[in-house]
Amino acid sequence: MTIKKICGIGAGYVGGPTCSVIALMCPDIRVTVVDKSKEKIAQWNSTKLPIYEPGLELVVKKCRGKNLFFSTDIEAAIKEADLIFISVNTPTKTFGIGKGRAADLKYVENTARMIADVATSDKIVVEKSTVPVKAAESIMHILRANHKPGVTYQILSNPEFLAEGTAIDNLINPDRVLIGGEDSPQGREAVEKLCKIYENWINRDKIFTTNTWSSELSKLAANAFLAQRISSINSLSPVCEATGADVTEVARAVGLDSRIGSKFLQASVGFGGSCFQKDLLNLVYICECLNLPEVAAYWQQVIDMNEYQKSRFSTKVIESLFNTVTDKRIAMLGFAFKKNTGDTRESPAITVAKNLLDEGAVLHIYDPKVEEFQIIDNLSAFDIDNIKNRVNIYHDAYSATKNTHAIVLCTEWDEFMELDYERIYVQMTKPAYIFDGRKILDHEKLQKIGFIVQTIGKRVSRIAVSKTWGSSTQM
Ligand code: UDX
Ligand code: UDX
Ligand code: ADP
Repeated sequence: MTIKKICGIGAGYVGGPTCSVIALMCPDIRVTVVDKSKEKIAQWNSTKLPIYEPGLELVVKKCRGKNLFFSTDIEAAIKEADLIFISVNTPTKTFGIGKGRAADLKYVENTARMIADVATSDKIVVEKSTVPVKAAESIMHILRANHKPGVTYQILSNPEFLAEGTAIDNLINPDRVLIGGEDSPQGREAVEKLCKIYENWINRDKIFTTNTWSSELSKLAANAFLAQRISSINSLSPVCEATGADVTEVARAVGLDSRIGSKFLQASVGFGGSCFQKDLLNLVYICECLNLPEVAAYWQQVIDMNEYQKSRFSTKVIESLFNTVTDKRIAMLGFAFKKNTGDTRESPAITVAKNLLDEGAVLHIYDPKVEEFQIIDNLSAFDIDNIKNRVNIYHDAYSATKNTHAIVLCTEWDEFMELDYERIYVQMTKPAYIFDGRKILDHEKLQKIGFIVQTIGKRVSRIAVSKTWGSSTQM
């Protein structure tokens, strides 16, 4: 039997784009994406999708109503499916054992119980959510303990490696597809069926099959390695600032070694996103549970370095503005955790905004894709006085920067490189500061305009002549 019907449970950043691309590449398979959130499903069925992802709209438009369906009828979709992807959220636990570190598997568990409740035929259940090692085993226990007579299950681990902002390209041209399954004839048969789906558009030599546990651990390891590279380069940024080295030059020199490679060595205000911190915390927790404190400490340091970088950047802003930002207007350009997404989960901008608000600043925030309610919601999580009057959201960079004392750039949106900084400078309070947390601006040009420029991993200070002051200022 080949797979004819797929059900994707969870219509979020992973499930939505993944199922849409499968529908695009496999016209003979009927793909139904379900979610318990009515609003989300309504958005997937509308012209304004719930997530912004370049290219996604086109894919959805092409397939929706043909072989791609979005629905809240979870039971019906499970019942008719041959294969079920679980792509529900796995946040870090906020209470109980493993609080703040372990992955909260309640959504995965609920899904497994629901499948066991309603399935009346054999199913291949594929975990796509990032889950701790041995989670597949828990799903298996739930399914097999509750199975109906004659209904069998195979559980596969098929972690998703897409990055937001490039999800569609990552799904269409992945570096590899990883499938882990049980080492038994039935397990191998299930792996083979999932391979066949991917083979509709991906070469077999890019499909890597392993046992379930290797697959689960590889996902955590891949994210931990990527985050570690960023923390490693970020750790060198204060060394560069203190010595006069330039972290971009160092990264380039290091990355030219083919054993190291050039990717993911961009020093920044810190990494964000829903995966890196969560997966690192999860890895640390697993190591602690396995009584491997040295290994846990090693990976914990990657997170600690990221926290240090975010607070170091905020401190730099405050110190440069004469050690006080109380009542100063600061423009924040960018709020998403990276460009080309509207996602703010774990965005370094949130930490920077909080630190500035704690010091009494008034923020003018602009991000091309993050919705106003999202920013307010993120910042309302903190106990900050009078937040409504101190956080102002703008819809373009020029209005956001008007009459501000400083610009703090937190997301590397392309449009920030193309702004007319002469125009911005004229309408700012002087001396006008720019803190480039992503190293994307032309610092020399900005200095010529009159800005005082600070960035990460490079000393940009010099004697600048302020146009309006007409005197020399030592920086
Ligand atoms: C290293 C650098 O590679 C080289 O660029 C620099 O100029 C000098 O230091 P070297 O120490 O001669 O060179 O050998 P290298 O091949 O890097 O191996 C160093 C150690 O790491 C060895 O003990 C090697 O066995 C070990 N190693 C290397 C591993 O354990 N695993 C690996 O994947 C690679
Ligand atoms: C990541 C992994 O890349 C992806 O494979 C996995 O499936 C999910 O987690 P994502 O979080 O969407 O994807 O984005 P990514 O491009 O990895 O960026 C994560 C964070 O690191 C962003 O805040 C980004 O700005 C930052 N980053 C990335 C750097 O600061 N420097 C870099 O060199 C690269
Ligand atoms: P990710 O980034 O991992 O895709 P998201 O939070 O964007 O995470 O998406 C996960 C989705 O899973 C959410 O839309 C949530 O409503 C959905 N979800 C969680 N639990 C269930 C469940 N038991 N049944 C259906 N959908 C669920």
